[in-house]
Amino acid sequence: MSELTTPHAGDDHAADTDVVSLLMRQHGDIRNLFDEVEAADGEERRDAFRRLVRLLAVHETAEEEVIHPFARRGLTGGRQVVEERLAEEKAAKETLAELDDYDTDDPKFIPQLLKLRKDVQEHARAEERYEFTHIRRSTDSANLAAMAKAVKAAEAMAPTRPHPGVESGTANMALGPLAALMDRTKDAVRKAMDKG
Ligand SMILES: [Fe+2]
Ligand SMILES: [Fe+2]
Repeated sequence: MSELTTPHAGDDHAADTDVVSLLMRQHGDIRNLFDEVEAADGEERRDAFRRLVRLLAVHETAEEEVIHPFARRGLTGGRQVVEERLAEEKAAKETLAELDDYDTDDPKFIPQLLKLRKDVQEHARAEERYEFTHIRRSTDSANLAAMAKAVKAAEAMAPTRPHPGVESGTANMALGPLAALMDRTKDAVRKAMDKG
């Protein structure tokens, strides 16, 4: 059993009044969960992988609903920046779909996981560099806080803690339930933005 102490989403007690800090913290949580999946095996790996996939799904959905629309309208060259980010997200989703075909103990699992990790990290770096830093300079703190609230509502859909009993069951994530999770996340984000 691994003894990694992975910080969990929401554990830092930050006020999260800045959508950029919040999303960058999630990038860190995603990185930690990749470490956790790699270090674990058996049921623990399966459980960590489920949490990773859920957080990825929720994170990307929140970005698509909150950050990309703002960047498209609000940044110089924003349309182009967002198109490039969406292409990266699409590539990562395809890698994830392939990964979903393997049991987490399959010898092919880790090489494919590393491929996904590379896609995801490069994408996150590009977001931070070409999108996030410019967003912070292009709007006021009230808007950063309103967007943070919407991303927070999405985050509540992705528990990152290990399950106490570690459920058994099918190995793969089943992309069907994942699509349903993304729909629920979209609803939560839109509700939070309406309340704005
Ligand atoms: Fe993204
Ligand atoms: Fe991201």
